[in-house]
Amino acid sequence: MVTTEFAKQIAQGIPSNLPPKKDIDPKVSHAPKRKKILSQSEQILALRNALRYFPKEWHRELAVEFNEELEKYGRIYMYRFKPEYDMYARPIHEYPAKSIQAASIMLMIQNNLDPKVAQHPDELITYGGNGAVFQNWAQYLLTMQYLTEMTDEQTLVMYSGHPLGLFPSNSNAPRVVVTNGMMIPNYSKPDDWEKYNALGVTQYGQMTAGSYMYIGPQGIVHGTTITVLNALRKICKDRSEYGTKLFVTSGLGGMSGAQPKAANIAGCVSITAEVNPAAAYKRHEQGWVDEVVEDLDQVIDLAEAKRKEGKAYAIAYLGNVVDLWRKLVDRNVKVDIGSDQTSLHNPFAGGYYPIGMSFDDANDMMANNPEQFKKEIYATLKAHVEAINALVDRGMYFFDYGNAFLLESSRAGADIVKENGDFKYPSYVQDIMGPMCFDLGFGPFRWVCTSGNEEDLRKTDKIAAEVLKELAVVAPKEIEQQLQDNIQWIEQAEENQMVVGSKARILYADSTGRIEIAKAFNKAIALGELEGPVVLGRDHHDVSGTDSPFRETSNIYDGSQFTADMAVQNFVGDSFRGATWISLHNGGGVGWGEVINGGFGLLLDGTQEAEQKLNSMLFWDVNNGIARRSWARNDNAVFAIKRAMEINKQLKVTLPEEISEEEVLSAIGQEQTSK
Ligand SMILES: NC(=O)c1ccc[n+]([C@@H]2O[C@H](COP(=O)([O-])OP(=O)(O)OC[C@H]3O[C@@H](n4cnc5c(N)ncnc54)[C@H](O)[C@@H]3O)[C@@H](O)[C@H]2O)c1
Repeated sequence: MVTTEFAKQIAQGIPSNLPPKKDIDPKVSHAPKRKKILSQSEQILALRNALRYFPKEWHRELAVEFNEELEKYGRIYMYRFKPEYDMYARPIHEYPAKSIQAASIMLMIQNNLDPKVAQHPDELITYGGNGAVFQNWAQYLLTMQYLTEMTDEQTLVMYSGHPLGLFPSNSNAPRVVVTNGMMIPNYSKPDDWEKYNALGVTQYGQMTAGSYMYIGPQGIVHGTTITVLNALRKICKDRSEYGTKLFVTSGLGGMSGAQPKAANIAGCVSITAEVNPAAAYKRHEQGWVDEVVEDLDQVIDLAEAKRKEGKAYAIAYLGNVVDLWRKLVDRNVKVDIGSDQTSLHNPFAGGYYPIGMSFDDANDMMANNPEQFKKEIYATLKAHVEAINALVDRGMYFFDYGNAFLLESSRAGADIVKENGDFKYPSYVQDIMGPMCFDLGFGPFRWVCTSGNEEDLRKTDKIAAEVLKELAVVAPKEIEQQLQDNIQWIEQAEENQMVVGSKARILYADSTGRIEIAKAFNKAIALGELEGPVVLGRDHHDVSGTDSPFRETSNIYDGSQFTADMAVQNFVGDSFRGATWISLHNGGGVGWGEVINGGFGLLLDGTQEAEQKLNSMLFWDVNNGIARRSWARNDNAVFAIKRAMEINKQLKVTLPEEISEEEVLSAIGQEQTSK
């Protein structure tokens, strides 16, 4: 067992002496004040709930302090108990642990709370404004202590950040089982999250935050690159045309900021509008946009010039995206691809800015005249859609980027709905990610080198590229493109300098790709070619992990997009096939009550057992989702699951029979008009 000062502090859990009260650190970003929602009796309950973590003699002092936190921030974070040591993923051998699996989980927890990685680190929030790892610092301290103590014959049970305790299990069981935000369905409205989170009994784990699997912006850049690349493919004959194509979108915030970087990697010219100067210049400093331009005519002239050169170039327009769209219409510019990533899932509280006023004036109206602000938002959305419709009529390909653009535009009364009630435009999952990736089993596989060693990451990149190249030689044509895209990505990954925090990498792979890469890593660890073990995981935005009817499963059309069997089955199935930890969440991306999603972590330590586990678990983890997609009669998924059954004869999946539309329609007295 390691005995450094850091290790001692980790092992002690809640300190035996009450640490001094802490001031709020002005240098880090803090979570917004949450709305006051508790009645007086509920406020008392929240205090009781918080105090139960501490010895009685501290209660008088802590009760006053926690009450102040509740009043001031709407939550009790227990700031005083934030540890003094720096928060970051250390090399795995620096963690005090009896179980190497437990040590790997400590490493991933600390990575998710690293101020370089986390959005609001002092409130234990990793991303998305509310994606929590824990609800408060007492939960963090206790969890780390349990992980220090646990053996491979125990499992730590996590209820929404609260460590319920260590329970006897066995070495094949997961070391940690996480559930976040699991509610009785009728208690799953947004205000229920506000209330029960304020009470300290549940949390919003987003996707990878509450499952300790977030790895910084790399994941989103890769996913966005895949989307832009496939959008380009839909409109181009071949790659030589990409540099002449113009992609127009908006948002340079948390996730949206990946768009210009992704467009550059994919190889096209892009304009991304952003109203907030701080966000635009941050992305410029970071090198994700090549130039920030404030004048509309200049933006367009520059884009046209770059398009003529046929070279990728990322321009940020500092201003409202609707002004940009209108100008593009007026100047009759041929836009090839259009989308939007303003935060329209949150339209009236800063997610979307109206035209006709400055950014500061809009913020002022939002706070002081919310009724008028809502009217301005709806008027702007109508103008937004009008301009997009005009450009689509001239040949632009437009897709919704999972930000509720279509939904909110329809609520605003914009011209966005077809006669049959469907939206005029597809979502990125319906048109791109679903059929081209998820149905074929391709999704965001990731790994972390726990040695913390740069060289290990370089070696794993090389191993992964070699494996994918070997697979590409024998791949059926349906998946050739996906393999090539990811070979290209992994070969450029180091040069793209996307690593923040732990030494992590992401790529899209199907079940065979994931298994073969993992096996090669495990072998390299056994041979001592890698210095330390490797953690495998994935984003929940994947083939199988997530049931989300307007995003991940929006290309399921048999009605089952409103069920959550797949996500739950995935979580349970991963647990007994070898996952080191597993998680199941309510909420994530699109909101509390709107999605159920789950994920896993699997530690490769070079052993034979690790190889058995990866074979069994990764095969299930991907093919569960493909089987469900195939049952929904998605063509690519039918192809992929038949292939999986050939690869593993023990897999037998119920396949859908072909259906004659004509017979169905004639049964209800209708004729077939379209497919
Ligand atoms: N990138 C992805 O793969 C992905 C996937 C699914 C969903 N999304 C969705 O995309 C949205 C954006 O996510 P985010 O993390 O970047 O949010 P964010 O709030 O950090 O960024 C949105 C940005 O849009 C800007 N903006 C708002 N209105 C504008 C306007 N009218 N003109 C120009 N700029 C404007 C804001 O200033 C802000 O910087 C969310 O709704 C998210 O759920 C993204």
